[in-house]
Amino acid sequence: YFNHLENKNLKGKTVIITAGPTREKIDPVRFISNHSSGKMGYALAEESVKQGARVILVSGPVSLSAPQGVELVKVESAEDMYQAVLKYFETADVVIKTAAVADYRPKVTFEHKVKKQAGDTNIELERTNDILFELGQRKTNQLLVGFAAETDHLEEYAKKKLLNKNADMIVANNVKTEGAGFGTDTNIVTLFKRFGEVISLPLMSKNEVAVKIIEEITSLLRDMKT
Ligand code: CTP
Ligand code: CA
Repeated sequence: YFNHLENKNLKGKTVIITAGPTREKIDPVRFISNHSSGKMGYALAEESVKQGARVILVSGPVSLSAPQGVELVKVESAEDMYQAVLKYFETADVVIKTAAVADYRPKVTFEHKVKKQAGDTNIELERTNDILFELGQRKTNQLLVGFAAETDHLEEYAKKKLLNKNADMIVANNVKTEGAGFGTDTNIVTLFKRFGEVISLPLMSKNEVAVKIIEEITSLLRDMKT
């Protein structure tokens, strides 16, 4: 009867979720970005609220409305996202890095629209901060969950990311598979947990995937306490 009251697994927890793409400006009318729709991150935000968490949703530009009850922090660039996440990091119990952060940005952002010119075919780029990596270096008690979008060598790359970024779980999906990855309402993911546990989930809606991920996070939080 009162199950719905007792079932709030994230009560008292603060969860930061990053979602969507980032935009790296070239000039006032152009940017570098990617196909992330934000759906997976927004589904995770909704589920986290349902489980009783305080949710800070740090979102790049997407065409979704924020689930009720979340604190929405809108950002554009990888640098904005990095700053926003750092601002809340100390108060967080869990950080879920769903966002598809641009790995590179233009070295220079032009103030005026760039005119095309003969022979002008290159944009000089520089690396952005790897937010998840930075959090992995700074973390004290926070549980860190990353994503990995791959087209091949899924297991190898996901395990590398788990290790290199000092994460507690990596949610990996093959973006070339039908029904998975960017823009779709469904996803097929494999969870790679710290200490080697691997959980392969079948094709599910992103909402169902979110429920599973939050369940695993809940169990990881329990493990940390004991
Ligand atoms: N990530 C991040 N900051 C970046 C790049 C990635 O926080 N500048 C995070 C993503 O949010 C995701 C995880 O790192 O949770 C993995 O992102 P992914 O793009 O799959 O991996 P990369 O480490 O960027 O490696 P690559 O793109 O070369 O596969
Ligand atoms: Ca990347």
